[in-house]
Amino acid sequence: MTDKTSVVVAQVAGPAVEKGEEAVTTAARPAEPRSVKVRLEGVTRSYPGPDGGAVVALQDVDLAVREGEFVAIVGPSGCGKSTLLRLVAGLQETTSGTIDRHHSGSARPDTAMVFQDHALFPWRTVLRNVTFGLENRGTPKREAWEIAARELQKLGLTGFASAYPHQLSGGMKQRVGIARALASDAEILLMDEPLGALDAQTRTVLQDQILDLRKADPSLTCLYVTHAIDEAVFLADRIILMTARPGRVKEEVAVDLGAGRDSSVRGTAAFAKLAQDIWEHLRSEVEAAMQQESARSSP
Ligand SMILES: Nc1ncnc2c1ncn2[C@@H]1O[C@H](COP(=O)(O)OP(=O)(O)O)[C@@H](O)[C@H]1O
Ligand SMILES: [Mg+2]
Repeated sequence: MTDKTSVVVAQVAGPAVEKGEEAVTTAARPAEPRSVKVRLEGVTRSYPGPDGGAVVALQDVDLAVREGEFVAIVGPSGCGKSTLLRLVAGLQETTSGTIDRHHSGSARPDTAMVFQDHALFPWRTVLRNVTFGLENRGTPKREAWEIAARELQKLGLTGFASAYPHQLSGGMKQRVGIARALASDAEILLMDEPLGALDAQTRTVLQDQILDLRKADPSLTCLYVTHAIDEAVFLADRIILMTARPGRVKEEVAVDLGAGRDSSVRGTAAFAKLAQDIWEHLRSEVEAAMQQESARSSP
């Protein structure tokens, strides 16, 4: 059990804390300063709307993620969470504002993405799904196989290397998606509701596995989107709460559940209190998002 739990809720939108950098300093992290891996400043992204106008998905988002940090993004449906990840991945351009990725200069790719719907190639085996990115980068076949086998082992999938995706359960497919992202050894791991489509029990087991991956590699830098508050509290060092669309950073929450946190932390009063506090902060945004949806769908 972990008693050493503290909660810091920092109001981001306010005169005291205006920019991403200052906001970061309010969060709990080790005394040793770590380098910023990705910094968003004033990021806004719009899409063409159905009536010819623009839908502002994200507005004026400031955020800095440091090396080894696990940052969760939590917010209501449609608040621009997936947009934010795609922007960080370089799959889309910002409408305004900047995103700086601070690459170490190694041969590692900038980012790797884990999607909610696994996005595996149905015609490739599990092993060859995991080697896909490595093959594209020209990694020699044997080395790619060894890397893939190692990542599959970490996720308990060794016996399924030659299976095809349709032979796997939903939870196993997601684990393959995670293994594929880990195998790419990207500097920043981007995870977009990776457990969102799974049943509660499978989700809990995979949360434990993701925590184990974090413990095994403290340098892992991750931006993790979820709408499950308990998942964010369980996994993250820091949680960014988003407003309803247009998505802005509403608040930032530092989670200090101790470096050695394990699944038993879910049963602690501090865990429950933090999750409840976050829900209290998020409730009005979820209600606003629901109103937006019903306004759009009403005749
Ligand atoms: N390619 C697109 N074209 C038009 N609108 C989009 C596109 N992608 C997302 N949107 C809109 O932008 C908003 C944010 O979407 P998204 O980033 O998927 O939110 P979230 O992941 O938080 O649910 C939503 O209103 C969505 O309909
Ligand atoms: Mg999304």
